[in-house]
Amino acid sequence: MIGGIAHNLNSPIMSMACMIDNLKKLADEYKDSIGDSDVTKEDHLEIAKEMIDCIDKISPQCSYMSNIISNVKLQAVKLNQSSSERFTIDELIKTLNIKSSNRIHSDCLIIPQIQVDKNLEINGEINNLVQVLDNLILNACESYDGNEGSIDFIIRKENENIKFIIRDKGKGITDELKDRIFKEMVTTKGKHGTGIGLYMSYSTIKGRFGGDMWFENNEDRGVTFYIAIPITDN
Ligand SMILES: Nc1ncnc2c1ncn2[C@@H]1O[C@H](COP(=O)(O)OP(=O)(O)OP(=O)(O)O)[C@@H](O)[C@H]1O
Ligand SMILES: [Mg+2]
Repeated sequence: MIGGIAHNLNSPIMSMACMIDNLKKLADEYKDSIGDSDVTKEDHLEIAKEMIDCIDKISPQCSYMSNIISNVKLQAVKLNQSSSERFTIDELIKTLNIKSSNRIHSDCLIIPQIQVDKNLEINGEINNLVQVLDNLILNACESYDGNEGSIDFIIRKENENIKFIIRDKGKGITDELKDRIFKEMVTTKGKHGTGIGLYMSYSTIKGRFGGDMWFENNEDRGVTFYIAIPITDN
């Protein structure tokens, strides 16, 4: 995870270093031109404009880095909130605050279908799984780009696993992103996203629940995310 964060912070830092270098050259050019009768007012305005362009490019990189750091902090705090070592499906649903149908985040309707015994238990920290499911539900809502939409949220038992299914009919995931979203911090949401959500969710499911997580685009529209967590008897 630290590797991914470092990787994502590295490119804005490199780009800012390059802009600062340009700024330094422009400032030197400006200074050297003072008193030079060949340099016109227009030339000075041109140098100033180039300086402002550099500053304008640095500013969004700072916000992007600040977003990444805030989101990492937020997710890390939630991951470390300790609770008991096991929890029931009932407790999970109550913590997620999903009722029979629930409007959250703009115009999204969540349609829960709980097809397992609510007393079934999962080993691990409830907040960790809530965080992952919150990330997936939020992404599903965001896939409608602010338009009305619905999300199926299904919990079922399959073989010796509890399976969580989150299905939307939004814009789906492009081929270009498909192989990367769990392995790198990638976002298509500009300054509104950091790409940490899926990256951390995947490592939480693998590392903390010994489970698996995958997704597929639906045949018609949208995407379905799956999580399988092994049921243990103790
Ligand atoms: N349900 C979905 N439908 C369409 N695209 C999705 C969906 N879920 C994820 N994505 C794509 O995967 C990218 C990575 O998602 P991820 O949750 O990791 O980051 P994010 O939502 O962009 O930012 P944040 O860190 O705030 O969650 C998204 O930017 C989006 O392009
Ligand atoms: Mg997200």
